[in-house]
Amino acid sequence: MLDKNVVIAHRGASAYAPEHSYASYDLSHFDMRADYIELDIQMTLDGEIIVMHDETIERTGLTQGIIKEMKLEEIKEIRIGQWFNDKFPELAQKYYLEQTVPTLKEVFKRYGKANYYIETKSPDIYPGMEERLTMILEEFDLLSEERLSNYQTVIQSFSLESLIKMNQLKSNMPLLLLCQKGMLRAMTDEDLKQISAFVYAVGPNYKDLDQWLIERLHRLGFLVFPYTVNDEADMERLINEGIDGAFTNHPDLLRKQFRLDNGEVFEDE
Ligand code: G3P
Ligand code: CA
Repeated sequence: MLDKNVVIAHRGASAYAPEHSYASYDLSHFDMRADYIELDIQMTLDGEIIVMHDETIERTGLTQGIIKEMKLEEIKEIRIGQWFNDKFPELAQKYYLEQTVPTLKEVFKRYGKANYYIETKSPDIYPGMEERLTMILEEFDLLSEERLSNYQTVIQSFSLESLIKMNQLKSNMPLLLLCQKGMLRAMTDEDLKQISAFVYAVGPNYKDLDQWLIERLHRLGFLVFPYTVNDEADMERLINEGIDGAFTNHPDLLRKQFRLDNGEVFEDE
């Protein structure tokens, strides 16, 4: 069960390759052996679920466009590596220039029964996204009892409403509530207890966390996976304070901090 020393590759190994591309997922999954591939999902005009962080294609596609107003065939014209090569010339690779925006189905075809941490992005602007997501997960046999009880397919969101919808669609789906800075300290134990009835983990901004808050969240029944922890000193501090795992652009460094990079662990996998 994925409940301790958990390494969630944020947009893939996105410190080293263009986020949400096969290049960054390959690196995190095959080379760095992160526990999960983290996926942010958006929906096109023709109802296809694609993987991209932003609602627009400008930042990573270097051209104008709003995903919900574009068809999949238009999205497929975009290349998402140039911006990375421009921003990080020391890491630039020629093959990054060929990277396209993956659909969720394409990711599932390529990585099969890998573990996925899927974020419903902007669910308010994509009516029906949760239903569509559930159908695709069913199609790829990613909702088996075994997978769900081992936390191998997880849905995360900043939207409690979206998580409630997912819980209604699949009552045993593991869910993580992402929390903006300050949110958890503003909530009462009673509020949090109600949420912990159907949400197994929280994803706080890592800057919010200290040992007191981590212990409080554990006591209330949550696992704690902060985002997005990229600095080794922060990793070390948070591990000492008791986190169960984290979202990171550097899965290799987090594995090292969790002391997972030894033969024993690799043999067990
Ligand atoms: O999903 C965890 C973390 O990714 C939340 O922030 O904006 O990177 O999706 P964001
Ligand atoms: Ca995310």
